Amino acid sequence: MRKTIVAGNWKMNKDLNESVALISEIKNLLSEDTDVKMIVCPPYTSLETVNTLIKDTNIGLGAQNMCAADSGAFTGAISASMIKSVGCEYVILGHSERRTIFGETDELINAKIKKALENSLIPIFCIGETLEERESGEMKSVIERQVKEGLNDISADQLSQMIVAYEPVWAIGTGKTATPDQAQEVHAFIRGLLTEMYSSEFADNVTIQYGGSVKPDNAKELLSQPDIDGALVGGACLKADSFVAIAKAV
Ligand code: PGA
Repeated sequence: MRKTIVAGNWKMNKDLNESVALISEIKNLLSEDTDVKMIVCPPYTSLETVNTLIKDTNIGLGAQNMCAADSGAFTGAISASMIKSVGCEYVILGHSERRTIFGETDELINAKIKKALENSLIPIFCIGETLEERESGEMKSVIERQVKEGLNDISADQLSQMIVAYEPVWAIGTGKTATPDQAQEVHAFIRGLLTEMYSSEFADNVTIQYGGSVKPDNAKELLSQPDIDGALVGGACLKADSFVAIAKAV
């Protein structure tokens, strides 16, 4: 059975004090239990502190990126073992902002996925098409390329340790959400690709999150689709009440 997982990508928001305030508020609001697995992905500078504050909860900790190399002369970069050493179990890889702003290629993302798995981190592997790609009818070929190249030489056992996140670029931070039908169509397509590449047994067990302007008022409908197994939330995770409301809507 695949798990439903709601993750919050804080992006480049929240300094240390603000991070403490946000995670404390999330914890308070969660005091009545929710069954859904939640993950927070603060900036690197807050990871260690947030980790100490979630020790007594079942909230998971993730980083927003990492370097594909182990160590060495990579000024400004952070390795898999570094994020692991401050308590991360998860790492977002291939986010569209990393692809477009920082020029990350499918090949680099594949190398990072391998490095994360080697370090027993769970990659949250992001894929998604731009508006132009959707409108010119290239959506499926773009998704197929991202999935196949991102998962190049990844075994079925390794896939079973990963989370996939479908995030249409045109829906990220724009307030425009894919309709539940649009999102379901792509999620089913991704699961179909994984079935072809691995087997239905493995594909059926992969959590595929939807991301792109997920809010408390659209989460329930999106997440009730058969192939949508959770959400990767940006803007709405920066307020404790809306992040927790999304998890509770599931
Ligand atoms: P958004 O971001 O919820 O602000 O659209 C989602 C993401 O980038 O992961």
